[in-house]
Amino acid sequence: MSMTMIIYATKHGSVENAVKLLTEKLEGKVTVINIMNEDPPELNEYENVILGGSIYVGKIQKRLSKYIEKHLSELLTKRIGLFICAAQEEGIREKELIESFPEKLFEHAVCKEIFGYEIHYDDMNFIEKKVVGAILGHKSNYSELSDAKIDSFAQAIRA
Ligand SMILES: Cc1cc2nc3c(=O)[nH]c(=O)nc-3n(C[C@H](O)[C@H](O)[C@H](O)COP(=O)(O)O)c2cc1C
Repeated sequence: MSMTMIIYATKHGSVENAVKLLTEKLEGKVTVINIMNEDPPELNEYENVILGGSIYVGKIQKRLSKYIEKHLSELLTKRIGLFICAAQEEGIREKELIESFPEKLFEHAVCKEIFGYEIHYDDMNFIEKKVVGAILGHKSNYSELSDAKIDSFAQAIRA
């Protein structure tokens, strides 16, 4: 049976929703860890490791980056999938995806994807609402996660 660990970071829950969709599409045992709340267990028994987070002012969550930096050599021995949730326009989002992970891990990964994004407007503070309104043009809750992209990502991990 294949063993997959998903380690993710989220602020408002979009990544968590994407991970729920992804988990349903994977086979075997899947362990899901929100790194904002708990430390991931040892990786040794897992063959697949999926790492993902969301982008705030151009950057993925620091907690996830630090974990990756610390475990890079072990991660390079696994089948890796990398993803982000990000709301910027095409081109910028691709750059954000590349810059969110170490180059070696990015090249090693069997799949890397932008799953889309959500705006959890009701959950945001005053400043976040201003930023989202001014830069992204959203003034209410919004969801644009791509089921097709999550599906092909899951297929690539399963292959
Ligand atoms: C204050 C703020 C700043 C953001 N900055 C960026 C950004 O620089 N680039 C981007 O692509 N998306 C940006 N976003 C959009 C988030 O990445 C997107 O809403 C994502 O789905 C949030 O994921 P989460 O709910 O898991 O935290 C920003 C959102 C907020 C609220």
